[in-house]
Amino acid sequence: MTEFLVNRTKPDAGVTPDAMQAVEVAVQEALRAWGCEPTQLLQVLRHAQEALGYLPPPALERIAAELRVPIARVRGVVAFYSFLYAEPQGTYRVLFSDNVTDRMKGSADRLREMSQRLWVEPGKVSADGLVSLDRTSSIGLCDHAPALLVNGRPVPDVDAARAAQLCDLILARVPLDAWPRELFTVEDHIRRADVMLNDPLRPGEAIRAALARGVAAGNGPQATLDEIKGARLLGRGGAGFTTGVKWESCSRQPVTPRVVVCNADEGEPGTFKDRLLLGRYADMIFEGMTVAAYGIGASQGFVYLRGEYRYLLDALRDTLERRRRDGLLGSGICGCAGFDFDVQIHVGAGSYVCGEASALVESLEGKRGIPRNRPPRLAEKGYLGRPTIVNNVESYCAAALIVLHGADWFRARGTERSSGTKLLSVSGDCERPGIYEYPLGVSVRQVLEDCGARNTIAVQAGGPSGACLGQDEFERRIAFEDIETGGAFMVFDGSRDMFEVARHFAHFFAHESCGFCTPCRVGTSLLRNLMDKIRDGKGSQHDLLTIEELCGLLRNASHCGLGESAGRPLLGTLQRFRPAYERRLESPAVEPAFDLDGALARARRMTGRDDPGAHLGEAP
Ligand SMILES: Cc1cc2nc3c(=O)[nH]c(=O)nc-3n(C[C@H](O)[C@H](O)[C@H](O)COP(=O)(O)O)c2cc1C
Ligand code: SF4
Repeated sequence: MTEFLVNRTKPDAGVTPDAMQAVEVAVQEALRAWGCEPTQLLQVLRHAQEALGYLPPPALERIAAELRVPIARVRGVVAFYSFLYAEPQGTYRVLFSDNVTDRMKGSADRLREMSQRLWVEPGKVSADGLVSLDRTSSIGLCDHAPALLVNGRPVPDVDAARAAQLCDLILARVPLDAWPRELFTVEDHIRRADVMLNDPLRPGEAIRAALARGVAAGNGPQATLDEIKGARLLGRGGAGFTTGVKWESCSRQPVTPRVVVCNADEGEPGTFKDRLLLGRYADMIFEGMTVAAYGIGASQGFVYLRGEYRYLLDALRDTLERRRRDGLLGSGICGCAGFDFDVQIHVGAGSYVCGEASALVESLEGKRGIPRNRPPRLAEKGYLGRPTIVNNVESYCAAALIVLHGADWFRARGTERSSGTKLLSVSGDCERPGIYEYPLGVSVRQVLEDCGARNTIAVQAGGPSGACLGQDEFERRIAFEDIETGGAFMVFDGSRDMFEVARHFAHFFAHESCGFCTPCRVGTSLLRNLMDKIRDGKGSQHDLLTIEELCGLLRNASHCGLGESAGRPLLGTLQRFRPAYERRLESPAVEPAFDLDGALARARRMTGRDDPGAHLGEAP
């Protein structure tokens, strides 16, 4: 990182010629790596920032000019993503993961200790510019909580001794490359493996199987689509859409080229199974993407890798390179003339909503990650208007195995309506947090037994936007017909205060709302404020009613799934753990905290969205 961009002794000294030169070098380097198309804006900004430490105004101006996009759009993109910085950051940038499971394992204490020792407040840069310290949403290391990132590198299991060691290294200005390697070692906790994690799939095997199926059936790529449909694979990212139907619909679009996108955003707090797949099963993912490309007739592929997993990028690129050398990517894959497909990895920049498929596509196009209006569906008009499929990392792995072993093999596991296995990311109050692969249909109780959970009072399945399950629901099953989950399985024992858990989730959604539509932007902030008010002992029964009303409004009037599910953890805990709320109430008297309709009306007017159709989310 170039420190001399900022003259800390003479802040008004302006940008020096040396600094301008550094900006020029960084921007040119980023353009060489990513090109000058406007779609590359986010990647160019990230690349330049890695060299400069932040994005000073001259860098933004140069990038705007080179990519021929308005400077206002560049500034808008920088403001949207948490990991893009318009202000200087510390030479060491420490970001504490702020999932509820990190807090349960002491992250607040570690943050306080480091803050005191390093003389820097959370959210600030130290006066000498050495270190900045902050929190960020879950970084996907819940099995290693509390965890943090230093300049994008993961530091797991941060106990008091490790926090002190980090401070020593930072204060001694030891370069990160010279830090003890074990500080950055993230062990993959595979606790239960089934057909996916046990499968030693050899690179190219599934692609060749897809080609062979097409020849045997005499219908080429359609045989692949038939196999995926026959397997009844439902998407593993959370929503459970039928993969085969999505692929077939995309394959029927007249427009080419078509696009295959792998959603590796894994932003749902409590989920970390894609981290394992990306780190150890990359061939299986790329194999699944290539099979998908064959099935739908796509030539272009993207992996959208969350910014928090930047440290996985080099190994993923190496795998892609090897696959190109082996003829598994590029032109004429596996010797099949006309089968051309390649994959590029785009790195996100810290935005939960970018996991939503249409927001992700916007982000891939170099824009702010605002979810699109639908229709049209992405399968018709996705990346740059091209027919596009977006699937979760685990879905592509499952697809590769289905094509290799067949639909019947896949359907032999799981339940009638939920075939196959599912990876669960188990964390929280249990002896053995980690990844568990089960046939779908496994009971919550079975998972709790296997992970060594005791005195469990609640499980949050599917992350904050999923389901809160009380003790009387532990016989329920993880399956699309019962408890749907993208994979998060957070365990809470009797020592936990479920009101505080819900309050944390309310803060999460208020922070992550992209602000595009009024119900979500205002509603999530109001919910957060109400939860804080109750925490402070100033809440009333009326506030509980207002929470319920707001949750209903969010569910029905939000533009995308984030807003729709933002009220779920509050409703779930209110239903199952109401005493945790009620014992905090100041008085049973009705005491309105605010005028809900008035607050919404003002916000609607401010954004020009006060027409009756505003709740449908039409673009302003
Ligand atoms: C706010 C929000 C965040 C999401 N984050 C992710 C994510 O990180 N990974 C993912 O695969 N799907 C995520 N989804 C679901 C995607 O929109 C989409 O349904 C999924 O990628 C489709 O893949 P699948 O059919 O293979 O599950 C998210 C949805 C919403 C509303
Ligand atoms: S519901 Fe609206 S404000 Fe909330 S994340 Fe979705 S588009 Fe953005």
